[in-house]
Amino acid sequence: MLDASPRNTGTDGVDGGVGLTALLVAAARAIETHRGDSLARDPYAEHFVRSAPACAGWPVHPGEVPDGDANPLWGRFARYFGLRTRVLDDFLVRSVAGGARQVVLLGAGLDTRAFRLDWPAGCVIFEIDRDSVLAFKHRVLGDVSATPRATRVPIPVDLRADWVAALTGAGFDPAEPSVWLAEGLLFYLPHDAETYLVDTVDRLSAGGSALAYEVKVEKDLMAYRDSPLYTSTNQQIGIDLLSLFSGEPRPDSAAALADKGWSTSVELPYDFTRRHGRGPLPEPNDALEGNRWVFANKALT
Ligand SMILES: C[S@@+](CC[C@H](N)C(=O)[O-])C[C@H]1O[C@@H](n2cnc3c(N)ncnc32)[C@H](O)[C@@H]1O
Repeated sequence: MLDASPRNTGTDGVDGGVGLTALLVAAARAIETHRGDSLARDPYAEHFVRSAPACAGWPVHPGEVPDGDANPLWGRFARYFGLRTRVLDDFLVRSVAGGARQVVLLGAGLDTRAFRLDWPAGCVIFEIDRDSVLAFKHRVLGDVSATPRATRVPIPVDLRADWVAALTGAGFDPAEPSVWLAEGLLFYLPHDAETYLVDTVDRLSAGGSALAYEVKVEKDLMAYRDSPLYTSTNQQIGIDLLSLFSGEPRPDSAAALADKGWSTSVELPYDFTRRHGRGPLPEPNDALEGNRWVFANKALT
């Protein structure tokens, strides 16, 4: 059994702990949505921010960020989330075009892809997160009468425990290809929970499945504790990301997947900035330096 002790993730909803990071990403997506040169649009994102007392005073529009793009949190970091959203939107759309009809969002948070992307007929989107986060999401999306564009199945479960029964019990079929996404999740999980997650994704993935996830590869996260990104996130909205991340050494999940026969590519976010012509670029004392986006495909057998 995995250790489900609450070190970093806590048992709270979106008002604190790691749940509040889902609102951080939502605020970034709201700002990105209103940019003239936006990379991704999420019309629901600002509703989450406006509905959460913990976000009082947070911006949801570039015009509300006093120092604009120079703001390390609501400028550069928000742009990072906008780029990440776009790249992973593209990954999901591309993957279901290949035939898979099951999508699993691990640590789904306030991801609204079920509501805003064009899904092929017959697609089912499974959203895994903790109960309190999914309950908040359900309430806010209900308030704005949001309608999913695919069958959406929320699964309230903690990813530090055994989550397989919850997923298969909700209708996931391991015999059919699937698309998996762990966006902004793995650095919050203990080492063993990440290993279990990757082993489980492999075990539940038929040939033709795909997985994308984000990791941090730096050996010492604390090396960046004085970076503008971490300090401004703590000072402006009281989120101490370094205290939420698991401090354990990370497994090499891309190597583990390759050993299991998946083809993998490990990408630098900045390469996507260059491809799209906008987004964050490297800077000194850069807390994003170790971030990687990993894309993996399991061959058809
Ligand atoms: C930074 S947010 C990212 C949310 C979403 N993937 C996105 O990009 O918008 C991290 C999410 O991971 C979820 N999470 C963290 N630890 C978790 C756990 N042990 N079990 C389930 N969800 C977890 C949090 O509740 C939160 O919604």
